[in-house]
Amino acid sequence: MVASVTTQIQSPRSPTDDIAEVLLDAQAIAGKVAELGARITADYAGKDPVLVSILKGALPFLADLMRQIPIPLSLDFLEVSSYGNSTESSGVVRILKDLAHSIKDRHVLVVEDILDTGFTLRYVLEHLDQQKPASVKLCTLLDKPARRIVPITVDYRGVEIPDRFVVGYGLDYNERYRNLPFIGVLKPEVYGRP
Ligand code: IMP
Ligand code: MG
Repeated sequence: MVASVTTQIQSPRSPTDDIAEVLLDAQAIAGKVAELGARITADYAGKDPVLVSILKGALPFLADLMRQIPIPLSLDFLEVSSYGNSTESSGVVRILKDLAHSIKDRHVLVVEDILDTGFTLRYVLEHLDQQKPASVKLCTLLDKPARRIVPITVDYRGVEIPDRFVVGYGLDYNERYRNLPFIGVLKPEVYGRP
């Protein structure tokens, strides 16, 4: 008699499986991005702005936002690190990658994913100001005002969210979950997983 062999195929765990709750779905994000894009388009017409985005978290937001701003503009990138691998800000900000082009006399719009304690943006805004741009304004998709330590003026704010650590649409936990098309909260058991 030939024993039948059943092969159990285990599908790899999907990032979506680790989500406890969705705070903003793809449609809600798209609506906010379109709103922000319309305001920015009206304010920056004729100004040839440079959108300075902060890698890596703001990447999906920038990609969607710029396509809602149908005026001449250019892009540049900064990469900063303030978090290490934890969910708490260290307050120590380092520049990992600086701008590629001069922003002297340019209208700069900083595009950020989330404003939390404000340490990162204070550092970034001071760094940009030193280069004598014509103006610097800030656009952030998410704002967690309950966590603010450093006061920061936000010119374009997408959504205020409660004091919860969120992932998706560019935002990571230990470099994971950036590719989720929505913004959500992780299941508690995910923290501390190797
Ligand atoms: P801040 O310096 O505390 O304002 O933190 C800003 C940076 O921390 C953001 O650009 C994110 O990279 C990261 N961050 C803050 N809150 C969250 C969160 O809820 N999820 C993921 N990353 C976050
Ligand atoms: Mg970021």
